[in-house]
Amino acid sequence: MSEELHRIRLSVNGVTREVELPARRLLSDALRHDLGLTGTHVGCEHGVCGACTVLVDGRPVRACLMFAVSAVDTEITTVEGLTREDGSLGPVQQAFAECHGLQCGFCTPGFLTTVTACLRENPHPSHDEAREMVAGNLCRCTGYQNIVKAVERAAELADPQHDDQHDDQHDDQQSDAPVEVQP
Ligand code: FES
Ligand code: FES
Repeated sequence: MSEELHRIRLSVNGVTREVELPARRLLSDALRHDLGLTGTHVGCEHGVCGACTVLVDGRPVRACLMFAVSAVDTEITTVEGLTREDGSLGPVQQAFAECHGLQCGFCTPGFLTTVTACLRENPHPSHDEAREMVAGNLCRCTGYQNIVKAVERAAELADPQHDDQHDDQHDDQQSDAPVEVQP
């Protein structure tokens, strides 16, 4: 007997999309396979690594722990939705690119969505708060030092008061001291 399918509407990155899927379809799979939004990555599928993180009504959610049918009537934002309206990189994306916080990039979408949500709640994080923001996401390639720098840089870029002088100060203040962030 074939599995019962449900026709639902999902609002993703400001666009309403209609999909037909089984009730057990995970949101991560629905985004990737039903909607073709492959920017959301799947690592552990157990809610541990954070690679699948998307924003649901602005809050970071592990898409591998949520059924797609549970996301009806929410506003979902994936990494594809973090660009500016003109298609250029958003501040968090730009900061990660500038600070070379990533190597293979597999974990990147989860970091970008997580940091976006965290900076909305705390636009001016201290160094420790910036470290805390990424402590729940796993990256197997880096030591997190540049990722933390990227968070601090993203906060600068998103700040309307940001200017070039601020950029110079930022460069001067960068420390090469090792950072250990254990998620
Ligand atoms: S794939 Fe969802 S937390 Fe790892
Ligand atoms: S850059 Fe490779 S897992 Fe993070």
